[in-house]
Amino acid sequence: MCGIVGVLTDHEAAPILVEALKRLEYRGYDSAGIATVHNGMLDRRRAVGKLHNLADLLVYEPLPGKAGIGHTRWATHGGPTVRNAHPHRAGRVVVVHNGIIENYRALKEALADREFESDTDTETIAHLCETFLDRGMSPREAAAETLKHLEGAFALAFLFDGEEDLIVAARKGSPLAIGHGEGEMYVGSDAIALSPLTDRITYLDEGDYAFVTRSGVEIRDADGRQVHRDTVKIAAQAAQVDKAGHKHFMVKEIFEQPTVLAQCLAHYTGNGAVELPDADLDFAATDRLIMVACGTAHYACLVAKYWFEQIAGLPCDVDIASEFRYREPPVSDRATALFVSQSGETADTLAALRYTRDKAMAVVSLVNVPQSSIARESDTALPILAGVEIGVASTKAFMNQLGALACLAILAGRQRGQLTPEREAELVGTLLSLPAMINQALALEDQIRHQTGKLAEARSVLFLGRGPMYPMALEGALKLKEISYIHAEAYASGELKHGPIALVDNNLPVIVLAPRDALFDKTVSNMQEVMARDGKVWLVSDAEGVALAGEGVWETLTLPTIDPVFAPMLYAVPAQLIAYHTALHKGTDVDQPRNLAKSVTVE
Ligand code: AGP
Repeated sequence: MCGIVGVLTDHEAAPILVEALKRLEYRGYDSAGIATVHNGMLDRRRAVGKLHNLADLLVYEPLPGKAGIGHTRWATHGGPTVRNAHPHRAGRVVVVHNGIIENYRALKEALADREFESDTDTETIAHLCETFLDRGMSPREAAAETLKHLEGAFALAFLFDGEEDLIVAARKGSPLAIGHGEGEMYVGSDAIALSPLTDRITYLDEGDYAFVTRSGVEIRDADGRQVHRDTVKIAAQAAQVDKAGHKHFMVKEIFEQPTVLAQCLAHYTGNGAVELPDADLDFAATDRLIMVACGTAHYACLVAKYWFEQIAGLPCDVDIASEFRYREPPVSDRATALFVSQSGETADTLAALRYTRDKAMAVVSLVNVPQSSIARESDTALPILAGVEIGVASTKAFMNQLGALACLAILAGRQRGQLTPEREAELVGTLLSLPAMINQALALEDQIRHQTGKLAEARSVLFLGRGPMYPMALEGALKLKEISYIHAEAYASGELKHGPIALVDNNLPVIVLAPRDALFDKTVSNMQEVMARDGKVWLVSDAEGVALAGEGVWETLTLPTIDPVFAPMLYAVPAQLIAYHTALHKGTDVDQPRNLAKSVTVE
């Protein structure tokens, strides 16, 4: 939810911190701040809103120093104000924090004699550490002692008065990476932030804390024992974070879909069959597949449920991660639990994974960040190979989640004796034809740009779909909501007449995602129920579908004809472009929509 960074360098730290924060802004952008130690003295600069406000402030009020920490915030406790902006300070210590300290109220009560300036949980950490300094502890000891009193999730970086060659870093429930430079060292929420500085990264494990100096890092585990953690070389792709000439990251990533989907399918297929060279999944041995995720990743799982059940005959449950573990569902030792997460750091999904870890037969994850927490805590972590996704609204990651899930469903079908080699080759062939079809759908962008001008004025929009197009309707509604701020809902088409049809009037656009499949005629009936009440139907179908049912509708969009089984992957493209262009018409911040963050690392 927030991004933290720290540098111990031989250059001025402030510009390096700001550059690193730019690469973390996708994690939150309510406020930003940095602190440095210069001539032994701590000082800080903080600003509300986007990072450029902090950069502007630093022009007028420069902050010297070669040791520093920085933070970009997604507000959890306390509104987006300067006094709530990190770094938080208490006397001789400043701290930046990603996460939630669940016992901060009790800690704050015990520190009642201290002067607090903010409404945040994080400030409590600084005051607690200062009390241990007051007792004569060294900065290392004070920070280590502070950690023992914290409950909840945190990634932290401490900086101290008089310490120009020390950052204390800690990780529990939120990711934290240590970067190794030449005579310099870095701390960051993820490797992307540090990629211009180094490709040598050490990821802290749960409960670890670290004393970072320019000569290296000393890592301790939760019990204070010195431990070794591997240093890995991160993929070069993490450094390729730019818009490549596009107006926004989101549209760049929409247009990357043919390429990255092809990469994903090449990884999971070969010779007309699904191949998982480095994973030993046995879907024949499992009696139930449990899929758990949040947001767009959850909708990918809902689509995949149709595939696992129809292609593989495998009973499948799909759960919202934030609901899953609190329901305390029975998980048999013959169940396979599959967690889907682009970031691999979503706190709700990670917590759900931990709930199944000693219960399910296998804990599998599908992630876009191989070294992420969810990947590291799975028995088997499968990549989606979508490349770095910066746009807060997930697009290419969603597409590759579907691509990988489709391959897993086909593998399950083969392993469970539900698929002949010929049918498997047919399904794989359809998947492999998708990148080209997606290119054809992307060619409809100008038409969609024009059509969405009418949508931008809507107060509310309905999305309808049947079968696997129902979760696609859910995803379309989410995309529109999260970047255009227009209220949108999705319904299974057949459900409309059980209440929601009361919403229909001549002000309500109803976007119907309906390839010409076995359910098409029923969907047309639902469309006609909407049109009979002056609803404005926008039919997204293929040529045959538009020819059959496009008469008299408000708008139509004709997609290539595809085997209905994988149609949701193709229909994701218009859903994404409709949301994107509606947002452009409305002038909202497409890559960093209000109130959102890319990686939700708090529950
Ligand atoms: C998607 O457009 C949203 N930004 C959000 O719903 C996202 O899919 C969700 O937070 C899950 O994130 P994850 O895939 O990184 O776990």
